[in-house]
Amino acid sequence: MLLLHWDKAINNETLKMGAFDISKRDQAIKRLESRRKSGELGFMDVSLSREKTAQIKETVSYIQKHGKDFIVLGIGGSSLGGKTMISALTNKFSNKGTKVTFIDNVDPDYFFELLNVLDLSSTVFNVISKSGSTAETMAQFLVIYKMLCDKLGKKEAVSRIILTTDPEKGALRPLVRSMGFNSFEVPQNIGGRFSVLTDVGLLPAAVAGIDIEGLVKGAQDIVKTGLNNNIDENSVLKYSLIKHNHYIKGRTCSVIMPYSTKLADFSAWYVQLWAESLGKKGLGQTPIPATGATDQHSQLQLFMEGPKDKFITFIGIEKTSTPVELPKFDVDVEAFSYLSGHTMHELIRAEMLSTEKALSENGVPSVRIEIPELDAYHLGALFMFFEMAVALTGEFLEINAFDQPGVELSKKYTYKMMGRKGY
Ligand code: PA5
Repeated sequence: MLLLHWDKAINNETLKMGAFDISKRDQAIKRLESRRKSGELGFMDVSLSREKTAQIKETVSYIQKHGKDFIVLGIGGSSLGGKTMISALTNKFSNKGTKVTFIDNVDPDYFFELLNVLDLSSTVFNVISKSGSTAETMAQFLVIYKMLCDKLGKKEAVSRIILTTDPEKGALRPLVRSMGFNSFEVPQNIGGRFSVLTDVGLLPAAVAGIDIEGLVKGAQDIVKTGLNNNIDENSVLKYSLIKHNHYIKGRTCSVIMPYSTKLADFSAWYVQLWAESLGKKGLGQTPIPATGATDQHSQLQLFMEGPKDKFITFIGIEKTSTPVELPKFDVDVEAFSYLSGHTMHELIRAEMLSTEKALSENGVPSVRIEIPELDAYHLGALFMFFEMAVALTGEFLEINAFDQPGVELSKKYTYKMMGRKGY
């Protein structure tokens, strides 16, 4: 389960709300509860039915039979969660099994490089778009479908593309019906950036051999206490309050800093969640992705001595089955011999705790979230922890965390420039 630590700079006063009044806190939880009752918060009802497990299993067998490569085409919430799972829970350097790759842009050079090396006869694609009208994803779809048709014929092309989309609406669902694509669903009451634990993330995860039951169970365990208004029993509430109180006091930048390269993509997922959910009406914290210890040699100087507007969330991993021992060297070298006899795991943890202490002494507040180990269960828990925290923070700010009106205008200009009718 998740453990929460906060630094000494966050005293009990801050925790007990100092800046943010208790009745407002309770009202915020009530508003969230009523959103849930009205069916708006589908992401909290995360589950894996027997039928769903069977559908995923059957599709995974098909993919593994036909695909050396499984390419996921999608953007934003249709990509970042799945990508995070693969980098956190699989071996990036291994060539075993089906390789899962995410393409989330329309950079022609990058796309061309992929197409140039891909063996289409052993590739399966997953086009993920809830709306079916996202220009980037649809452009990728057009290219891939044509290439598959040219190489394998129309019937085989259709069977090599799995569409994950809205169960009823959108531009892709009619194609599922008329052309017979295999399809998965993005539930209507779950927005893109909250959809990681639906078919959107679970199918790619299952293809990579990740324990999807574990992911779901971890998330469900967070939901159990996530709306409890007793701060001692609800770490989501505690975290959200600490952070919000610091926001009110000028900590307008939210740094997320897992001490793990395997969680670097988790930071990217968090950035979208925090930015797109809360950046509204002149409010919101600017999320800053960082990776420990790498960014100690890049951004830490700014966090330490730059503008006093940062609040840091560390994520630590308590234990690992592969700690990597640091051996003795041939000769004694004062500059690094002290490392011998320790492990790499000890070193990365020492770096995290030291950075936390140094920041605290410099008046930079932080919270440390610890997971006992990096596995499917705890990654699922982390996803749900932050999804619930952002939902709660949205209520504290009295904004709707579930829409994204600010991204529409640039989309409309793109449609116009590319000649879409009516724009
Ligand atoms: O969180 C969101 O709603 C967005 O980031 C979407 O996921 C993103 O715009 C992609 O949308 P779609 O799945 O409709 O292609």
